[in-house]
Amino acid sequence: TQIEQIPGYTYGQVDPSPVSEADLDLLKQTVLFSDEDVQYLRLAGIILEDQTDAVLDVWYGFVGAHPHLARYFGKNNNLDANYLANVRRRFGKWIMDTCTRAYDQDWLNYQHEIGLRHLVKKNQTDGVDAEPIIHFRYLVAFIVPITATIKPFLASKGHSASKVEKMYAAWFKATTLTVTLWCYPYTKAGTF
Ligand code: HEM
Repeated sequence: TQIEQIPGYTYGQVDPSPVSEADLDLLKQTVLFSDEDVQYLRLAGIILEDQTDAVLDVWYGFVGAHPHLARYFGKNNNLDANYLANVRRRFGKWIMDTCTRAYDQDWLNYQHEIGLRHLVKKNQTDGVDAEPIIHFRYLVAFIVPITATIKPFLASKGHSASKVEKMYAAWFKATTLTVTLWCYPYTKAGTF
Protein backbone atom coordinates (compact mmCIF):
# COMPACT_ATOMS: atom_id res chain seq x y z
CA THR A 1 0.00 0.00 0.00
CA GLN A 2 1.04 3.55 -0.76
CA ILE A 3 2.14 5.75 2.13
CA GLU A 4 0.44 9.13 2.32
CA GLN A 5 2.94 11.92 1.71
CA ILE A 6 0.64 14.90 1.97
CA PRO A 7 2.01 17.40 4.53
CA GLY A 8 -0.45 18.00 7.36
CA TYR A 9 -2.84 15.24 6.31
CA THR A 10 -3.36 13.38 9.59
CA TYR A 11 -6.36 11.15 8.89
CA GLY A 12 -6.59 8.46 11.59
CA GLN A 13 -4.28 10.37 13.96
CA VAL A 14 -6.54 13.07 15.39
CA ASP A 15 -8.56 13.56 18.57
CA PRO A 16 -12.01 11.98 18.80
CA SER A 17 -15.00 13.87 17.45
CA PRO A 18 -17.62 14.95 20.01
CA VAL A 19 -20.23 13.67 17.53
CA SER A 20 -21.12 10.00 17.96
CA GLU A 21 -21.76 7.49 15.20
CA ALA A 22 -25.40 7.37 16.42
CA ASP A 23 -25.67 11.15 15.93
CA LEU A 24 -24.08 10.77 12.50
CA ASP A 25 -26.70 8.19 11.58
CA LEU A 26 -29.50 10.64 12.42
CA LEU A 27 -27.74 13.37 10.45
CA LYS A 28 -27.48 11.00 7.46
CA GLN A 29 -31.22 10.36 7.68
CA THR A 30 -31.79 14.12 7.77
CA VAL A 31 -29.95 14.70 4.46
CA LEU A 32 -31.61 11.58 2.91
CA PHE A 33 -28.24 9.83 2.70
CA SER A 34 -28.73 6.14 1.84
CA ASP A 35 -26.71 3.08 0.80
CA GLU A 36 -27.49 4.04 -2.79
CA ASP A 37 -25.67 7.34 -2.22
CA VAL A 38 -22.66 5.38 -0.98
CA GLN A 39 -22.66 3.39 -4.22
CA TYR A 40 -22.91 6.54 -6.35
CA LEU A 41 -20.11 8.21 -4.37
CA ARG A 42 -17.93 5.19 -5.17
CA LEU A 43 -18.70 5.65 -8.86
CA ALA A 44 -18.00 9.37 -8.55
CA GLY A 45 -14.66 8.50 -6.95
CA ILE A 46 -13.68 6.40 -9.97
CA ILE A 47 -14.72 9.20 -12.34
CA LEU A 48 -13.05 12.01 -10.38
CA GLU A 49 -9.79 10.25 -9.50
CA ASP A 50 -7.84 11.51 -12.53
CA GLN A 51 -9.69 14.85 -12.59
CA THR A 52 -9.03 16.19 -9.08
CA ASP A 53 -6.47 18.72 -10.31
CA ALA A 54 -8.93 20.07 -12.87
CA VAL A 55 -11.63 20.29 -10.17
CA LEU A 56 -9.23 22.12 -7.88
CA ASP A 57 -8.31 24.53 -10.69
CA VAL A 58 -11.99 25.48 -10.93
CA TRP A 59 -12.46 25.83 -7.15
CA TYR A 60 -9.27 27.79 -6.65
CA GLY A 61 -10.11 29.92 -9.67
CA PHE A 62 -13.41 30.76 -8.04
CA VAL A 63 -11.73 31.64 -4.72
CA GLY A 64 -8.98 33.59 -6.50
CA ALA A 65 -11.54 35.64 -8.42
CA HIS A 66 -13.15 36.77 -5.15
CA PRO A 67 -10.87 38.83 -2.89
CA HIS A 68 -13.28 38.34 0.05
CA LEU A 69 -12.50 34.60 -0.16
CA ALA A 70 -8.87 34.66 -1.33
CA ARG A 71 -7.87 36.77 1.68
CA TYR A 72 -8.12 33.74 3.98
CA PHE A 73 -5.10 32.21 2.25
CA GLY A 74 -2.92 35.03 3.48
CA LYS A 75 -2.93 38.20 5.52
CA ASN A 76 -3.76 41.80 4.57
CA ASN A 77 -4.65 40.58 1.08
CA ASN A 78 -1.18 39.13 0.46
CA LEU A 79 -1.59 35.53 -0.69
CA ASP A 80 0.73 32.92 0.77
CA ALA A 81 1.44 30.72 -2.25
CA ASN A 82 2.95 27.89 -0.19
CA TYR A 83 -0.04 27.82 2.15
CA LEU A 84 -2.35 27.72 -0.84
CA ALA A 85 -0.40 24.86 -2.40
CA ASN A 86 -0.30 22.80 0.81
CA VAL A 87 -4.01 23.18 1.45
CA ARG A 88 -4.73 22.35 -2.18
CA ARG A 89 -3.13 18.91 -1.79
CA ARG A 90 -5.24 18.11 1.27
CA PHE A 91 -8.30 19.47 -0.52
CA GLY A 92 -7.67 17.04 -3.38
CA LYS A 93 -7.36 14.19 -0.91
CA TRP A 94 -10.65 15.30 0.66
CA ILE A 95 -12.43 14.88 -2.69
CA MET A 96 -11.31 11.26 -2.87
CA ASP A 97 -11.90 10.61 0.86
CA THR A 98 -15.46 11.93 0.52
CA CYS A 99 -16.12 9.49 -2.32
CA THR A 100 -14.27 6.42 -1.07
CA ARG A 101 -13.94 6.35 2.74
CA ALA A 102 -16.27 4.58 5.14
CA TYR A 103 -18.07 7.22 7.21
CA ASP A 104 -16.93 5.62 10.47
CA GLN A 105 -15.36 6.92 13.70
CA ASP A 106 -12.04 7.81 12.00
CA TRP A 107 -13.94 9.74 9.38
CA LEU A 108 -16.01 11.55 12.02
CA ASN A 109 -12.83 12.42 13.90
CA TYR A 110 -11.19 13.91 10.83
CA GLN A 111 -14.30 15.95 9.99
CA HIS A 112 -14.03 17.51 13.43
CA GLU A 113 -10.36 18.22 12.84
CA ILE A 114 -11.13 19.94 9.51
CA GLY A 115 -13.75 22.08 11.29
CA LEU A 116 -11.12 23.09 13.85
CA ARG A 117 -8.67 23.89 11.03
CA HIS A 118 -11.12 26.45 9.65
CA LEU A 119 -11.41 28.06 13.10
CA VAL A 120 -9.25 27.64 16.24
CA LYS A 121 -6.55 25.54 14.56
CA LYS A 122 -6.36 27.60 11.37
CA ASN A 123 -2.74 28.22 10.22
CA GLN A 124 -1.28 25.71 12.72
CA THR A 125 -0.96 22.75 10.36
CA ASP A 126 1.11 24.69 7.83
CA GLY A 127 2.78 26.99 10.36
CA VAL A 128 1.65 30.14 8.56
CA ASP A 129 0.72 33.68 9.57
CA ALA A 130 -2.58 34.20 7.77
CA GLU A 131 -6.10 35.38 8.63
CA PRO A 132 -6.98 33.74 11.96
CA ILE A 133 -10.34 32.17 11.06
CA ILE A 134 -12.63 31.36 8.13
CA HIS A 135 -15.87 33.15 8.85
CA PHE A 136 -18.79 30.84 9.45
CA ARG A 137 -21.05 32.33 6.78
CA TYR A 138 -18.64 31.43 3.97
CA LEU A 139 -18.10 27.89 5.23
CA VAL A 140 -21.82 27.19 4.77
CA ALA A 141 -22.29 29.26 1.60
CA PHE A 142 -19.35 27.52 -0.08
CA ILE A 143 -21.45 24.35 -0.31
CA VAL A 144 -23.09 25.85 -3.41
CA PRO A 145 -20.00 26.34 -5.61
CA ILE A 146 -18.45 23.09 -4.34
CA THR A 147 -21.59 21.29 -5.46
CA ALA A 148 -22.51 23.16 -8.64
CA THR A 149 -19.04 22.97 -10.19
CA ILE A 150 -18.66 19.19 -9.81
CA LYS A 151 -21.41 18.23 -12.26
CA PRO A 152 -19.50 18.68 -15.56
CA PHE A 153 -16.70 16.51 -14.15
CA LEU A 154 -19.17 13.76 -13.20
CA ALA A 155 -20.69 13.98 -16.69
CA SER A 156 -17.36 13.96 -18.55
CA LYS A 157 -16.97 10.20 -18.93
CA GLY A 158 -20.11 9.26 -20.79
CA HIS A 159 -22.37 8.07 -17.98
CA SER A 160 -26.14 8.37 -18.49
CA ALA A 161 -27.88 11.55 -17.39
CA SER A 162 -29.72 9.64 -14.66
CA LYS A 163 -26.46 8.24 -13.24
CA VAL A 164 -24.84 11.67 -13.34
CA GLU A 165 -27.86 13.08 -11.52
CA LYS A 166 -27.58 10.41 -8.81
CA MET A 167 -23.85 11.00 -8.35
CA TYR A 168 -24.49 14.72 -8.17
CA ALA A 169 -27.20 14.26 -5.54
CA ALA A 170 -24.93 11.97 -3.50
CA TRP A 171 -22.10 14.53 -3.71
CA PHE A 172 -24.44 17.32 -2.54
CA LYS A 173 -25.61 15.23 0.42
CA ALA A 174 -22.05 14.23 1.36
CA THR A 175 -20.82 17.82 1.18
CA THR A 176 -23.74 19.08 3.27
CA LEU A 177 -23.12 16.31 5.80
CA THR A 178 -19.41 17.05 6.14
CA VAL A 179 -19.76 20.83 6.26
CA THR A 180 -22.45 20.41 8.93
CA LEU A 181 -19.95 18.45 11.01
CA TRP A 182 -17.31 21.15 10.42
CA CYS A 183 -19.70 23.69 11.96
CA TYR A 184 -19.45 22.07 15.41
CA PRO A 185 -16.50 24.20 16.65
CA TYR A 186 -18.40 27.34 15.63
CA THR A 187 -21.40 26.54 17.85
CA LYS A 188 -22.02 27.34 21.51
CA ALA A 189 -21.73 24.42 23.93
CA GLY A 190 -24.87 22.33 23.88
CA THR A 191 -26.31 23.82 20.70
CA PHE A 192 -24.90 21.60 17.92
C1 HEM B 1 -8.78 23.89 4.59
C2 HEM B 1 -12.57 22.13 2.17
C3 HEM B 1 -14.81 26.34 2.97
C4 HEM B 1 -10.40 28.22 3.19
C5 HEM B 1 -9.62 23.00 3.95
C6 HEM B 1 -9.38 21.60 3.74
C7 HEM B 1 -10.44 21.12 3.04
C8 HEM B 1 -11.36 22.20 2.82
C9 HEM B 1 -10.67 19.69 2.57
C10 HEM B 1 -8.12 20.84 4.19
C11 HEM B 1 -8.43 19.93 5.34
C12 HEM B 1 -7.18 19.25 5.89
O1 HEM B 1 -6.35 19.94 6.50
O2 HEM B 1 -7.03 18.03 5.68
C13 HEM B 1 -13.56 23.10 2.24
C14 HEM B 1 -14.95 22.92 1.89
C15 HEM B 1 -15.60 24.08 2.19
C16 HEM B 1 -14.59 25.01 2.66
C17 HEM B 1 -15.53 21.63 1.33
C18 HEM B 1 -17.07 24.43 2.10
C19 HEM B 1 -17.97 23.73 1.44
C20 HEM B 1 -13.79 27.26 2.95
C21 HEM B 1 -13.94 28.69 2.72
C22 HEM B 1 -12.69 29.20 2.79
C23 HEM B 1 -11.76 28.11 3.05
C24 HEM B 1 -15.24 29.45 2.48
C25 HEM B 1 -12.31 30.62 2.57
C26 HEM B 1 -11.82 31.01 1.44
C27 HEM B 1 -9.60 27.23 3.73
C28 HEM B 1 -8.28 27.44 4.29
C29 HEM B 1 -7.84 26.19 4.74
C30 HEM B 1 -8.88 25.25 4.40
C31 HEM B 1 -7.53 28.76 4.38
C32 HEM B 1 -6.56 25.88 5.46
C33 HEM B 1 -6.89 25.88 6.95
C34 HEM B 1 -5.64 25.62 7.81
O3 HEM B 1 -4.90 26.59 8.06
O4 HEM B 1 -5.41 24.47 8.21
N1 HEM B 1 -10.83 23.33 3.37
N2 HEM B 1 -13.39 24.37 2.72
N3 HEM B 1 -12.47 26.96 3.15
N4 HEM B 1 -9.92 25.91 3.82
FE1 HEM B 1 -11.67 25.14 3.37
